[in-house]
Amino acid sequence: MTQPKILVARAVFPEVIARLEQHFVVESNQLDDNWTKAQFIQKLQGKQGVFTTGGDRIDAEVLAACPGLKICANMSVGYNNFDVDAMTQAGVTATNAPDVLTETTADFGFALLMATARRMTESEHYLRAGKWSKWSFDMFAGSDIHGSTLGILGMGRIGQGIARRGAHGFGMKVIYHNRSRLSAELETDCKATYVGKEELLKTADHVMLVLPYSPASHHTIGAAELSLMKPTATLVNIARGGIVDDAALASALAARRIAAAGLDVFEGEPKVHPDLLTIPNVVLTPHIASATIPTRLAMANLAADNLIAVLTGKKPLTPLN
Ligand code: DGY
Repeated sequence: MTQPKILVARAVFPEVIARLEQHFVVESNQLDDNWTKAQFIQKLQGKQGVFTTGGDRIDAEVLAACPGLKICANMSVGYNNFDVDAMTQAGVTATNAPDVLTETTADFGFALLMATARRMTESEHYLRAGKWSKWSFDMFAGSDIHGSTLGILGMGRIGQGIARRGAHGFGMKVIYHNRSRLSAELETDCKATYVGKEELLKTADHVMLVLPYSPASHHTIGAAELSLMKPTATLVNIARGGIVDDAALASALAARRIAAAGLDVFEGEPKVHPDLLTIPNVVLTPHIASATIPTRLAMANLAADNLIAVLTGKKPLTPLN
């Protein structure tokens, strides 16, 4: 029996490629070349499956040009690179990689919050630049995490993980806003109280963004929302670029309308708004919230499991349609 052909669009763990090769004829991109859309479509010719990461766009144009495609397996929980409706119409299965990254990503969200509120990178740059000549009482004074109010926008599994860390580990008061309210049981478990978005922005000492990106969540935080936040507040975005209006945020940070921000994701990444690169009160990381080797391996294996399941006639493990 001939094996199905698949494309792995980005470089991934060699052991995952080896697993896939047990089931498929695999064309992979282990050199991690940047393909144009036309090159991507050309590589997809004759393929039944594709292993994608969050930067590989699957839309109606790609689907129309690749009629043999049966499954697109994303190695990320976020799937705003997929036009899921178009995939459903084309009869193509879409899968993502949820759950396996929840705790790792929540750890990172908390790390970014700590680094931002306690001005860790700003003070490190100062030290490395040889500017530290004496200690002073208010040097790099930041804001407290323990006992403060954490506002979480987007209360999926990662948001809940961050809530648990804040409430149980740091005695924070946790408030959240989400499309739908959690069950009473989950609210108790996370020690989290549901509030409106405006109340959250006005009362939180730290605002954490963990909501999925969609046209409806585009610029959830813009100039108007930033103006509601406390001048001492911090903002952390581990969700997706585009949820924050980065230009408006850069102005708010430069004018100290809020104290600081921690950003792991950016509008138009890997490009970063140039003003953010020169402002001291922002911690910047290159979309690494889920980046530990065990977690990235689990994400890649889940994408591989989905490809293997669907192309051997079984149900996908984590379907989106
Ligand atoms: C995800 O899984 O969505 C992370 O942002 C990594 O892309």
